[in-house]
Amino acid sequence: MAKSCSSSPFQSLIIFLFLVSMCGMAFGQLSTTFYASTCPNLVQIVSGVVRRAVASEPRMAASLLRLHFHDCFVQGCDASLLLDDASGFTGEKSALPNQNSVRGFNVIDNIKTAVERQCPNVVSCADIVTLAAREGVTALQGPSWPVVLGRRDSTTASLSSANNDIPAPTSSASQLLSKFQAKGLSAQDLVATSGGHTIGQARCVTFRDRLYNFSSSGRPDPNLNALFLSRLQQQCTQSSASDNSLSPLDVRSANVFDNAYFVNLQFNRGLLNSDQVLSAGSTQALVNAYAGNNRRFFADFASAMVNMGNISPLTGSAGEIRKSCRARN
Ligand code: HEM
Ligand SMILES: *[C@@H]1O[C@H](CO)[C@@H](O)[C@H](O)[C@H]1NC(C)=O
Repeated sequence: MAKSCSSSPFQSLIIFLFLVSMCGMAFGQLSTTFYASTCPNLVQIVSGVVRRAVASEPRMAASLLRLHFHDCFVQGCDASLLLDDASGFTGEKSALPNQNSVRGFNVIDNIKTAVERQCPNVVSCADIVTLAAREGVTALQGPSWPVVLGRRDSTTASLSSANNDIPAPTSSASQLLSKFQAKGLSAQDLVATSGGHTIGQARCVTFRDRLYNFSSSGRPDPNLNALFLSRLQQQCTQSSASDNSLSPLDVRSANVFDNAYFVNLQFNRGLLNSDQVLSAGSTQALVNAYAGNNRRFFADFASAMVNMGNISPLTGSAGEIRKSCRARN
């Protein structure tokens, strides 16, 4: 008895550590050091390509951030969004929230090419998209966050999920909350990540009804600042000819990642209905908190991005490492 008792604390520690490491392998957990030996310069490669792209077009930071969001909300963060339609294969690019809208695919291709040159066949497109979103945000002075790695690429895509799971700009607050909840994200995640609209542009078609015929009332949305409304009406006319005309999501500072988006909401200067509805009801307190405290917005945005990046990754031996991000191997 005494013999086995004296050795047991050490033995159980060894067994415990062994089991912990086995669990990591068995479940293919994500980690910040996943490519430490197989592609040690990965972050620098991604950062370099993103910084060059954003230097020549600041909006690209926004486009890369949105690409990550639209990837993660459909089957999880698995690069399903990057797959082109092909004979016998339907991707997600023609879904209503994506078509003529999501951009940045060429930048992802450029990153993948640069990565393959240094570390062939080991880095997933899903991880590249996740890293590119962060590098875009930091390139426009936004917060950084730890990106865990080890996601693998899907061999499938879902057009129907892209149409159903990504929230529409006409959504009410309760519709937004339920679409986020369906992905395991909280109300705080919703408000904080909506702050991603502090950068980038939206097409007239995504908010026109607010300017002319809100909820079929024949009038503009009453929650639109009058001067802001008249300026938007000049850019976004009733004619379908202006469908693709762009307006900044953050009228104050479209190329700087800051909390001005939330200040806009307090003054009825939110561009999309899905933006403006956050400034009432159960989400109002957080809007006010972020409007008054940029550091709190940055901290909550960072943690919400970590949560978004953890939506249903493929790990271990699931999925594959694509050779081209646009096609299955
Ligand atoms: C809460 C629900 C959301 C809705 C309804 C929504 C809707 C939209 C719409 C309609 C556009 C303009 C698209 C176009 O004109 O083609 C847009 C742009 C954008 N969205 Fe969202 N979005 C949401 C959440 C998010 C989240 C969570 C992020 C990232 C964290 C994000 C990041 C962006 C960015 C950065 C742009 C500008 C993209 C560019 O300029 O290329 N959005 N969003
Ligand atoms: C507003 O939209 C409704 C429903 O689509 C339509 O019947 C009505 O004619 C529109 N009103 C105006 C002023 O455009």
